Amino acid sequence: MVRAAITAVGGYVPENVVTNFDLEKIIDTTDEWITTRTGIKQRHIEKDPKKATSDMCVEAVKELCSKRGIAPDEIDMLICGTVTPDMVFPSTSNLICAKLGAKKAWGYDLSAACSGFIYGLATGAQFIETGRYKKVVVVGADMMSRILNFEDRTTCVIFGDGAGAVLLEPTEEDNGVKDFLLHADGNGATHLHMKAGGSLNPATIDTVTNKMHYVYQEGQAVFKNAVYNMAEVSAAIMEKNGLTAGDVKWLVAHQANKRIIDATASRMGIGSEKVMMNIERYGNTTAGTIPLLLWDYEKQLKKGDNLILSAFGGGFTWGAIYVKWAYDGK
Ligand code: UT7
Repeated sequence: MVRAAITAVGGYVPENVVTNFDLEKIIDTTDEWITTRTGIKQRHIEKDPKKATSDMCVEAVKELCSKRGIAPDEIDMLICGTVTPDMVFPSTSNLICAKLGAKKAWGYDLSAACSGFIYGLATGAQFIETGRYKKVVVVGADMMSRILNFEDRTTCVIFGDGAGAVLLEPTEEDNGVKDFLLHADGNGATHLHMKAGGSLNPATIDTVTNKMHYVYQEGQAVFKNAVYNMAEVSAAIMEKNGLTAGDVKWLVAHQANKRIIDATASRMGIGSEKVMMNIERYGNTTAGTIPLLLWDYEKQLKKGDNLILSAFGGGFTWGAIYVKWAYDGK
């Protein structure tokens, strides 16, 4: 059977770092509150108004190509999971490919908020498994700072900007994307959404005045759903594939809140040494978190390692993917 193996990883975060102490100076918050409630110590925020999500993605994909020794025009297809596209249309994927010179590639954006990368990975893997394509890039990226209200302490402290990307190639070895469980429940939209900018509430002076172009989140409702669903789906994919806690080398969980990640690990029965964590440095980069974890931990990964990728986010969307890692990190 042909499987989709991850054969390279790239990542990018903007240079500018905003610490919790920096935020203390502009809103009513404390480093202590942010650290104990979320695990976040700092986040990267793009300062240049001319830069957008596609620019972060271009850097991530360039790195991936150079690591794998391929040119962008060898890419067949590029899927970009994002809720902060450069513009409503054309797709960020098209803009990334143009900036990269990925002339052969077609692709599209995928809107699944924090689950954008795992939805994209499951989708991209299909194009490899069918034999249709040889090189599919899946990007997860969000420039959350562009949709944050920096007067709302309940949301602006949580998010950050960043992009990560993986290359999928066919393998006949027993590794790659082995299985996935994906879910959605649009009833959750009420708890986490952006009120304006779409066909329901197009931009008007009123939508701007009423601050409707920002992330709206009812934190506790999202937290409860995230803890339950991320933990359950992660345990479910282990059970479905006959994996015990001992078989799992790494939990690669969406970085929204350290407490949600700890609860997921505990439900799976795995220790903290197997949990990839970088929330303290990047905050919640939405679709960027999972590929940025792979980027940060790539050197520690070994061929044959069993990874459980798991996410929960706006939609609601959630799910888990079982990946057997395909190469030794360098
Ligand atoms: O990635 C997409 C999915 N999103 C998530 O998974 C996020 C899920 N939710 C969460 O992670 C948490 O709900 C938050 C981190 C957003 C909030 O933590 P919490 O423990 O649920 O806090 P809370 O909303 O219950 O608020 C507790 C208190 C409130 O004050 P009172 O009413 O008890 O006086 C808030 O006003 O903390 C206050 N508060 C803050 N205080 C200082 C809220 N934000 C802040 C802040 N600094 N930044």
